[in-house]
Amino acid sequence: MDRSASASENGVEHTIMVDLGDRAYPVEIGHGVRHRIREHLPTSAMRAAVVTQTNIPVEVDTGLEQRVFTIGDGEAHKVPATVHELCRDFAQWGLNRNDVVVGVGGGIVTDLAGFAASVYHRGVPVIHVPTTLLGQIDAAIGGKTGVNLVEGKNLMGSYWQPAAVLCDLNTLDSLPEREFRAGLGELAKYHFLGGGQLDELPLAQRVAASVRIKADAVMADEREGGRRALLNYGHTLGHALETSSDHALLHGEAVAVGIVYAAEVAAAMGRIDADRVAEHRRVIGAYDLPMRPPPGIDFGDVRPLFGRDKKALTGVTFILDGDAGCEIVDDVPDEALEAAWAALCR
Ligand code: GLY
Repeated sequence: MDRSASASENGVEHTIMVDLGDRAYPVEIGHGVRHRIREHLPTSAMRAAVVTQTNIPVEVDTGLEQRVFTIGDGEAHKVPATVHELCRDFAQWGLNRNDVVVGVGGGIVTDLAGFAASVYHRGVPVIHVPTTLLGQIDAAIGGKTGVNLVEGKNLMGSYWQPAAVLCDLNTLDSLPEREFRAGLGELAKYHFLGGGQLDELPLAQRVAASVRIKADAVMADEREGGRRALLNYGHTLGHALETSSDHALLHGEAVAVGIVYAAEVAAAMGRIDADRVAEHRRVIGAYDLPMRPPPGIDFGDVRPLFGRDKKALTGVTFILDGDAGCEIVDDVPDEALEAAWAALCR
């Protein structure tokens, strides 16, 4: 796909408001929109703490007294110690609650920057500049922040809505091909959450359509009492594959397999027909994403991990497609899980 088919530099092609009353904020999408950051800074801010990683070649210029704080690359750094270090660094610099934190990077960076911003001085404003497709259509929007504990992913965190999210499509140009494609796995879920044939749209419109679906879910259910959980379509097997393969699959790749699996589970339960399963496979195939578990992973490896998903309230819970669209289904029978696994591996 042409990532850089472009409108004008610094041009906002789409603005989507996440309307949460006095915490409402815009998500701007377009080429060069990160250069509009000054429009979104809190008027009280004198300093900007930019949280990023050394391998992210994206600069922002807030026009304020600005300092860059780099964090390590990879999930191993998405831990409480990194937030502690960031907060200590902020304190030593003299950042205060009138200032601003800016997260520039993928989901790990914006989750960490958002969490640090939410607890430092009991909360300072944060602006996100997501530099991955996955960040632009999901992670940076909606206020979920967090870190991993030894016991599991994202077990410690907060809801801390940003003041703005700037989805600069130019930043995607430097993404390695595999990482960009993995982001399409997260995008694929929006096809089945009301997005329709997103693969036919140019990139800016795809991102905007995905952000709109996400924003609607967040506005309806900020703290994930119900509807927001639908955003985890494909994630129950996806998370299990990430863990059981020791992250041999990227998150979006694992979600892609998980989406096909969810379709097979829904079919095994008689919720959808073969054509609808084929449509799931068509979308994942159109994005050139995997549809099978990696070699060496068996049902016995993933089945025990389904129950550990923190969204599971009772037995094994899946988001499943059906006549009324995707919905949360509790107590999915083991026979359906097994039959779907067999279909996935066929
Ligand atoms: N990534 C799912 C959510 O933000 O709720």
